[in-house]
Amino acid sequence: MQKEVSLDDIVSLCKRRGFIYQGSDIYGGLAGTWDYGPLGVALKRNIMTAWWDFFVNNRDDMYPIESAILMHPQVWETSGHVAGFADPLIEDIKTKKRYRLDHLLEDAGIEHTASMSLEQMVATIKEKGIKSPDGNALGNAAQFNMLFKTSVGSVEDEKSQVYLRGETAQGMFTNFRNIVDSFYPNIPFGIAQMGTAFRNEISPRDFIFRAREFEIAEFEYFIKPDTWEEEFEKWRLLMHDWCEKVLELPANKIHELEVPKEDRAHYSKRTVDFEFDFPFGRKELYGLAYRTDFDLKGHQEATGKNMEYKPKDGSEPFIPHVIEPTFGVGRSLMAVLANAYIVDEIGGEKRTVLKLPEHLAPYKLAVAPLLKNRPELVAKARQVYTKVKQKYSKVLWDDNGNIGKRYRRADEIGVPKYIVVDFTTLEDGTVTVRNRDTTKQERVKIEEL
Ligand code: GAP
Repeated sequence: MQKEVSLDDIVSLCKRRGFIYQGSDIYGGLAGTWDYGPLGVALKRNIMTAWWDFFVNNRDDMYPIESAILMHPQVWETSGHVAGFADPLIEDIKTKKRYRLDHLLEDAGIEHTASMSLEQMVATIKEKGIKSPDGNALGNAAQFNMLFKTSVGSVEDEKSQVYLRGETAQGMFTNFRNIVDSFYPNIPFGIAQMGTAFRNEISPRDFIFRAREFEIAEFEYFIKPDTWEEEFEKWRLLMHDWCEKVLELPANKIHELEVPKEDRAHYSKRTVDFEFDFPFGRKELYGLAYRTDFDLKGHQEATGKNMEYKPKDGSEPFIPHVIEPTFGVGRSLMAVLANAYIVDEIGGEKRTVLKLPEHLAPYKLAVAPLLKNRPELVAKARQVYTKVKQKYSKVLWDDNGNIGKRYRRADEIGVPKYIVVDFTTLEDGTVTVRNRDTTKQERVKIEEL
């Protein structure tokens, strides 16, 4: 028997068991920021390592970098973010709270808001009599740029103003020349990185789904212009492999959305959004875009630096085009958690279990003495713990409470296997190994663990 998982279930488990907390919690929180606790860090790192292995380490055509978060401010002018990285907002005239204008329209069933001008959206709000979520009339509307501003150096003036990066991609474009000069890779090749991005979201919501500070894992794959369709297709299929084979998300919960022209980012000639059935609806998980030569060409024009690639066969140099698969790390974690969260019944008793893929689980094993007040059991269990820890670095030592409660607690954080040292262990050198998903136990010799 299973119940549908809700967002509240996930948020509550994350807080209770040390996965994710509200940022600046003791000060009442800072909206759109989240702090990862020990289990959240472990799960997130396992996802990031899996991504790095799948898309970078296992390939010969990928060049990883880590670029600085603070970049020359002109980068963001060239990329179009200063002019166009904006969301429309509207104010509740009573509470003065601000909302995403397009979200309010979409919540009222109006589609293709991205193709509407600000004036058209405001007119629709008036025409349809749409109110704020608090039931009040809506007033002033404006385009709101999502780049966070800060300043470098000791004098704050126009010249010192820089931005916190809104995407990691620009670091790959600004290092294109460096990578080509250092490595002269064969084309096609990719430049990859993982890192924090910042967006001043008007209404951060749905837990870590829409945050103001979050991590992106993405790469820019540089190609010959006439190969873009086949390269797009190749990456589309590999993104499915990542979702289904590595994150082990069910294929029937992943959907592709061919993004219409009017909804695409300014740099994209084709975009496919990968959507996932989250507990709060079908929402964007990842994106795959054909960015053409928009960025490299723009940087070449702005800096005068040559962004051409010289083919090794001596043919004409050209500015490569780009396919960009992009992955939100927090959204990956949320999809994995939502998919793993299950409430079932064992022996007439309800239990919450996280059926996480073993390679992503924060702890791979738990080890416990059956009774904590029997020194001979504790000593033996410690020996077993030390042995298994040599192979699986993340092992949980668990001797608190009765064994039934310990199993429940371990299930709730997704520990795949639970080893117990009992009195039989002292006689024949075997332990019980309990399987999280089936709750079945088997006796295994310690040497065979
Ligand atoms: N370089 C392309 C780019 O940044 P994007 O679709 O704007 O594309 C990439 O963002 C991914 O980052 C999204 O597919 C999503 O997974 C994640 N993402 C975007 N905005 C987010 C937010 N406010 N909070 C958490 N994740 C976000």
